[in-house]
Amino acid sequence: MTSFRDNLLAGKTAFVAGGTSGINLGIAKRFAELGARVAVAGRDPDKARRAADEIGHDAIGLSGDVRDYGAIRGVMETVADKFGPMDIVISGAAGNFLAPVLGMSANAFRTVVDIDLNGTFNVFRGCHDLLNTPGASLIAITAGQAVNASALQAHACAAKAGINQLVRVLALEWGPDVRVNGISPGPIADTEGMKRLAPDDATREAHYARIAMKRWGKVSEVAESAVFLCSPAASYITGTILDCDGGSQVGDASRLDLARGMA
Ligand code: NAP
Ligand code: COA
Repeated sequence: MTSFRDNLLAGKTAFVAGGTSGINLGIAKRFAELGARVAVAGRDPDKARRAADEIGHDAIGLSGDVRDYGAIRGVMETVADKFGPMDIVISGAAGNFLAPVLGMSANAFRTVVDIDLNGTFNVFRGCHDLLNTPGASLIAITAGQAVNASALQAHACAAKAGINQLVRVLALEWGPDVRVNGISPGPIADTEGMKRLAPDDATREAHYARIAMKRWGKVSEVAESAVFLCSPAASYITGTILDCDGGSQVGDASRLDLARGMA
């Protein structure tokens, strides 16, 4: 049986920067399933081609570094030439590693800020005149580090906080023609990000206890949040950061387990 959602994004063009693996690839796949023409990009051209094959539906995989304005602008021009003006642009490229400030060179800090924050500026600044307006929807993939300070994450905290503010400023500057929002995923299973941030079982178990939903999220759950924000159901939503995080940012649910233990 088909439902109206099966064709929700029919006729739309979507570009996903950093869409060649993990969460962003999951978003790209879902967009394609719902009828969008989809293009993804990352640094590695072979990985981008493999991602496009995995997405199917005539998706294209391009390569460009979001730190290089000219390169990512060129990628988006190619997308618009091939598929027409873009209705949806996702900025999701990111880099991360665990390191204390004193274990991080100036270049290490700059590298993460450059990919995450400057990269998001480059993608959004570079796409504006290639958008199908009014009605275009932009989404930045941010993270809880934007609002919760976290040891070993100075670079990501600074970069993602900057992304959240960039989203709000762009919502003000580009409304009413373009909606600009963010999605802040919580810990998502089977991703490169969590391999880096929670590399062992003990860390993972501690994570589950703190989360209201008592589990990590699924890539598909973040993808559905992206579908919602791009859909007519979100037509009056701009400048918001949608937490898709099982309640991670609400607070620490493990205190309840402690209290139960004491009862
Ligand atoms: P991932 O699989 O490592 O995906 C990163 C993507 O960005 C890849 O397509 C990668 O391809 C691309 N990329 C990296 N550096 C780039 C650059 N300089 N220029 C262009 N593309 C670049 O990561 P993930 O864990 O799924 O995370 C995806 C997003 O979700 C990130 O924004 C991350 O901060 C956010 N997030 C993740 C989690 C989580 O649980 N994983 C939680 C909160 C937020 P190439 O390597 O080929 O460039
Ligand atoms: N601890 C401390 N410093 C580190 C580090 C770590 N674990 N990993 C990298 N660095 C430093 C490097 O030493 C270098 O600094 P230096 O020149 O002073 O030595 C700087 O970071 C840049 O590293 P480099 O490898 O040249 O950067 P790159 O542009 O090739 O790759 C990274 C960017 C480092 C973020 C790399 O991990 C990456 O490509 N990540 C993408 C995937 C990812 O992180 N996914 C998760 C998303 S949440």
